[in-house]
Amino acid sequence: MTDMLVKLYALPPLAPLAALLARDSVVMRRPLACEKHLVTAWFGGLFGVGWASECETAFSRLPVACFIAAQEARIAGVACYDCTCRNFFGPIGVAPTWRGRQIGRGLLLACLHAMAAEGYAYAIIGGAGPLAFFSRSAGAVAIEGSTPGIYPDRATPPLTEKLA
Ligand SMILES: CC(C)(COP(=O)(O)OP(=O)(O)OC[C@H]1O[C@@H](n2cnc3c(N)ncnc32)[C@H](O)[C@@H]1OP(=O)(O)O)[C@@H](O)C(=O)NCCC(=O)NCCS
Repeated sequence: MTDMLVKLYALPPLAPLAALLARDSVVMRRPLACEKHLVTAWFGGLFGVGWASECETAFSRLPVACFIAAQEARIAGVACYDCTCRNFFGPIGVAPTWRGRQIGRGLLLACLHAMAAEGYAYAIIGGAGPLAFFSRSAGAVAIEGSTPGIYPDRATPPLTEKLA
């Protein structure tokens, strides 16, 4: 998977998307520290322990480097930044039943606007899976020669197996 670069000084506005989601009573916000166990368990349950671990890092920062989309008490999606590396966006996940409703775009833009406000000029999407989602939603472009980037070679056994 390749990394992608996003210009944070030329982002689409967030407000229209937030208003669109609000029509379905979906609110985007940073989670509170007391919600850490809920958010990381949600991530782990749907996307695996690796993303849950990255999400935990978001809660080690203040403000929490993460946004959730929620309808009342139900989490629809989560996105994080500054977890794996400074300046990295990700991970992001939307629950299967909520996909295709602009929640992923909203969470991506909420994080990217936050990164711009925190002083970054560009963001890097580390190990981007669906390239078209990121290019359509935020104008991201692939970084040439960035595979596998900072992520370990998949042929190498994971750290836990090496230690076992
Ligand atoms: C990728 C993901 C976050 C998208 O969330 P979503 O809420 O369904 O996406 P949105 O509805 O906001 O889509 C925004 C735009 O991206 C497009 N898009 C969404 N998912 C896409 C995909 N997998 N491939 C290509 N384009 C995609 C949509 O068609 C839409 O385009 P348009 O409105 O300009 O026509 C979601 O599918 C997901 O959680 N996937 C599994 C986890 C994952 O792959 N995360 C990224 C890892 S780097």
